Amino acid sequence: MSISEHPAAAPAARPAPSRVAAIVPAAGKGERLGPGVPKALRELGGLPLLVHAVRTLIAAPSVDLVVVAAPPGPEGVTRVQQLLADLPGDTRVVAGGASRQESVALALATLPADCSVVLVHDAARALTPVDLVEAVVGAVRSGAEAVIPVLPVTDTIKAVEGDLVIETVDRSRLRAVQTPQGFQRDVLAQAHAAADPYAPATDDAGLVEALSRPVRTVPGHAEAFKITTPFDLILAEAVLRRRR
Ligand code: C5P
Repeated sequence: MSISEHPAAAPAARPAPSRVAAIVPAAGKGERLGPGVPKALRELGGLPLLVHAVRTLIAAPSVDLVVVAAPPGPEGVTRVQQLLADLPGDTRVVAGGASRQESVALALATLPADCSVVLVHDAARALTPVDLVEAVVGAVRSGAEAVIPVLPVTDTIKAVEGDLVIETVDRSRLRAVQTPQGFQRDVLAQAHAAADPYAPATDDAGLVEALSRPVRTVPGHAEAFKITTPFDLILAEAVLRRRR
C-alpha cells in the first residue's frame, strides 16, 4: 500500500505560536532632563523619544504587540494614543504608575493570553538598534527565562558615603545594564507578583534575580544608551544625524 492509500490521519493540531509583546514604560517625569513635558515626550530629531522607541519595536520582526505605559491621567494617555495613532502595527496604551515597576506591572496585566514572551523597553532608550531587540528575543526563544543586554563598565567605580570613598569595586565583574530586557511571561509575572511596591526595582531583571531565577546576558549596544540628562540628548542628536 502506498503512503497515499493509508486512511487519512487527522493532522496533529499544532499549538498556536506564542506571540511576543513589548512593554514600554514611558510614565516617568524625567526631572534629570530639566523642566518640561514628561521625558518620553521630549523631542529628538523632531519626534518624541517614545515614538523612536516604539518605531524600533514595531520594526523588529519578532515583536507582535507594543503596550505603552503612558504618563498617568487622561491627558497623558490621550497624548500617547495620538502619538501612536499613525504608526503601523498593534500598539496599545495604558496609564502608567508612580514607579517604573508599577508602570510595567500595569501594562503586564493587560497582555493577551497568547503572549508568552515579554520584552520591557525604556522609552528613554530611543536609539536602540532593531538587531539588539532581535538578539534578546532570540535568547528567550532559545530557552532563557530572563535576558538582559549588558556592556562592560569603562570607568573605575567606587562605593562612597558622602564624600568618603568606602571601596573600589572590581570593574571586571561589573556590567552596565540596558533594555530591552526579555522574559518568559510567567517568570516576569511571578517576579512582579512577589515585588515590594515600597522598594521598587530599577529594572525587571532585578525582580527575577530576587526569585533566585537565572538571568542571562547578551552583548548590549552603545546606541541603546538611556537618554537621561541634557548631555545625553545632545549625544542622541549626533547619533541620529550620523544615521540619517
Ligand atoms: O527614571 P528612569 O530613567 O529609570 O526611567 C526609565 C523608564 O521608566 C523611562 O522610560 C520612564 O518613562 C519609565 N518610568 C515609568 N513610570 C514611572 C517612572 C519611570 O514608566 N513612574
